[in-house]
Amino acid sequence: MAELIEVPPGLAGVAVTYTRVGDVLGDEGLFHYRGRSVVELAQEWSFEEMAALVLDESGAPAVGARDLPAPAVAAFDALATALDLRSALSLVAASVCSGPLVDISPAELRADAVRLISVLPTLVASVHHGRALVPDPALSHAADYLRMVAAAPGAPTPQAVRALETYLNLTIDHGFNTGTFAARVIASTGADLGACLVGALGALSGPRHGAVQGRVLEMFDAIGEPANAEDWMKAELRSGRRLLGFGHAVYRVTDPRSVCLAEVLAEVDPARAALVEAVAAAGGRLLAGRRLSPNVDLYSSVLLEACGIPRSLFTATFAVSRIVGWCAHVLEQAEERKVIRPAAYYVGAPPGRG
Ligand code: ACO
Repeated sequence: MAELIEVPPGLAGVAVTYTRVGDVLGDEGLFHYRGRSVVELAQEWSFEEMAALVLDESGAPAVGARDLPAPAVAAFDALATALDLRSALSLVAASVCSGPLVDISPAELRADAVRLISVLPTLVASVHHGRALVPDPALSHAADYLRMVAAAPGAPTPQAVRALETYLNLTIDHGFNTGTFAARVIASTGADLGACLVGALGALSGPRHGAVQGRVLEMFDAIGEPANAEDWMKAELRSGRRLLGFGHAVYRVTDPRSVCLAEVLAEVDPARAALVEAVAAAGGRLLAGRRLSPNVDLYSSVLLEACGIPRSLFTATFAVSRIVGWCAHVLEQAEERKVIRPAAYYVGAPPGRG
């Protein structure tokens, strides 16, 4: 057998494929979708425009009808609250997907992707409420999502919709993150798009990847007032815990998404923004010289709450945008023929013992 190649833990810095979807320049604090600077566009473009930019180079819409397919409606009627998002996505994907990637055309795969991107907000909201919801086609993707998940009845405010849309735009794709890699590994086997997306959603649900925002809010709750920030954070560090909302696997300078969201938060909720800035400043002092800056989740947690998104839906809301990036990468991976199949150094008992 060929000699194994040892790589850094977590495959950090190892390039495993090529992509045209986008890139993260960690030392420069920049990221882009297909060469376009995301922070320059995030506050101006609609989610629909941004999704079309990311999904592929065709310029065709990436978002369409948000209504649930009939089998999903029937499942909600039968099971109600027994469905969680992973099961619900699996169910919808099974009724939507044209077939395994190896058996379908690029056009069929793209159509499957658009259908699943489009339906996810309705699915998240339906799982949340425990019944099949009906989308409003007159509203934008972001506005309709907010309408469907919000606790309060009525149309969401334009300011909340714009803030949510900016968050969604900023989180559609982000280099070769773990969820994206998971989707591409599954795609390399030729499985259907649904399998790729459910796998990616599972990766996103981990607190070391997508599920930290709720914990960041608990930190803000515990700190309470800006004046308490530094003492509270010192105690965390003394206890050997990490400061949530700081550090990033790729950025060694400020996460550009956090700069953009700080601007939006200051307009949407100035009082909460003051607390977040106090925490950011205290973290800057306590982590000085360690190349650990505020990350996107320090701001997104508070912003999503200010928009009216329930805390239990933060990770699902992240998925509403990131599904576009996952689909874009699956479309690319479907053109590759090689299965992603690395190796491991065996360190157990020697072979041949019984
Ligand atoms: N607070 C204190 N120390 C930290 C923090 C932090 N937030 N993050 C990293 N460190 C320290 C580690 O303890 C380690 O120190 P050591 O070398 O003395 O052992 C060093 O910095 C490097 O840590 P790694 O885990 O190797 O850094 P990595 O770049 O892999 O970690 C991560 C990135 C997981 C995001 C980390 O910074 C972290 O746990 N942050 C807090 C959780 C968080 O905010 N997650 C959201 C990230 S944004 C996103 O994923 C969308």
